Amino acid sequence: MPKTVYVGMSADLIHPGHINILNTAAEYGEVVVGLLTDKAIASYKRLPSLPYEHRKQIIENIKGVSRVIAQETLDYVTNLELIRPDYVVHGDDWKTGPQKETRARVIAALKSWGGELIEPKYTEGLSSTALNKAVKEIGTTPGIRLGKLRRLIESKAIVRALEAHNGLSGLIVEHAQVRENGILDEFDAIWLSSLTDSTAKGRPDIEFVDRTSRARTLNDVLDVTTKPIIYDGDTGGITEHFTKMVRSLERLGVSAVIIEDKQGLKQNSLHGTDRPQILLEQEAMCDKIHAGKQAQVTSEFMIIARIESLIAKAGLDDALERAKAYIVAGADALMIHSKESDAREIRAFCDAYVEFEHQVPLVCVPSSYDAVYEQELIDMGFNVVIYANHLLRSAYPAMKSTAENILRHKRAHEASQSCMTVQDILNVIED
Ligand code: SPV
Ligand code: MG
Repeated sequence: MPKTVYVGMSADLIHPGHINILNTAAEYGEVVVGLLTDKAIASYKRLPSLPYEHRKQIIENIKGVSRVIAQETLDYVTNLELIRPDYVVHGDDWKTGPQKETRARVIAALKSWGGELIEPKYTEGLSSTALNKAVKEIGTTPGIRLGKLRRLIESKAIVRALEAHNGLSGLIVEHAQVRENGILDEFDAIWLSSLTDSTAKGRPDIEFVDRTSRARTLNDVLDVTTKPIIYDGDTGGITEHFTKMVRSLERLGVSAVIIEDKQGLKQNSLHGTDRPQILLEQEAMCDKIHAGKQAQVTSEFMIIARIESLIAKAGLDDALERAKAYIVAGADALMIHSKESDAREIRAFCDAYVEFEHQVPLVCVPSSYDAVYEQELIDMGFNVVIYANHLLRSAYPAMKSTAENILRHKRAHEASQSCMTVQDILNVIED
């Protein structure tokens, strides 16, 4: 009876380090690879470049691998108990750092049936993290970027998007990172907000900044980022224009467009009913969604229908009725908007929504109810959270205060204290 050897891996970008591990494993017996699912990987770092099925196909065909099974979590124990392997093989790099805990649990599990942990020396100079960085530097293609949003929605508890309104803010969304308890947190996607794009151009958010101008901003952001983009399509305009918008966005590699069910002069939703918020008739919105779906070329592009019933004070029933109708019309996801200062009306919507027979992913924009934590949004049933305007809102007061400081002191010295150094700003952009 051959011995069983278990190897857990992500195997996104295969390098000789992986082959060393698999070769060592094969020396001990029959190799079962526990391949981490996209979900398992996304729980602690960036989504892999290749989806699970592609990675599985590659690993299955590597010499010495007998079988590939899914490892659904970062933790090995469930699979180990299932297989009860004689050995687990893992590079010795996990003795320290974020995987220390996982290693301890593997040792404990193996101990209960007399299994053994084999730790070949880590192949120096070859790390997936470094390779991932290199891949990122090479960039992306419109097709790869377009498909990313759906993969993220399928793999993550909640997809986080942050607003960008030019290349520089796009770079912030692309690169901002926080590492806590071994988990790398970053934004998953970029929101091309009509509010911040218009405001950055010194214009009101009333669909005045036209498509050509919005496309220029979009292009600047696309040029310097790789993350998927959710485009704020305002009302989508007349249906004949919306279908063309869908085609243009798809060609550029944008993942999704959100259109809101309003008509007439569009007013920003955060004005609430201080400005006229005229809802588009449900049927007309359905026709627009349907036409957009007919127009798209790829299967991955998403048309997200935004429900403004709560903004226009048309009531929860109207919102729910529209949600049902928009799903039937083909909406790939729904965004439910609210400008209340707490999440009560959003929660009421979600409570009713979970009872729907047919559901699509749900998007929220917690600009006014901003005390709500992401975990609460996940519990309510949201799949995407958009932080819609925060980079611009934080930049504006900083810039204003700098301008006033210079006026007040009749020199720049005092203002410079709250500025980054010239050296730093020169280094922000790599040339
Ligand atoms: C935007 O960011 O432009 C939006 C969200 O559409 S809101 O400003 O809340 O209307
Ligand atoms: Mg908008």
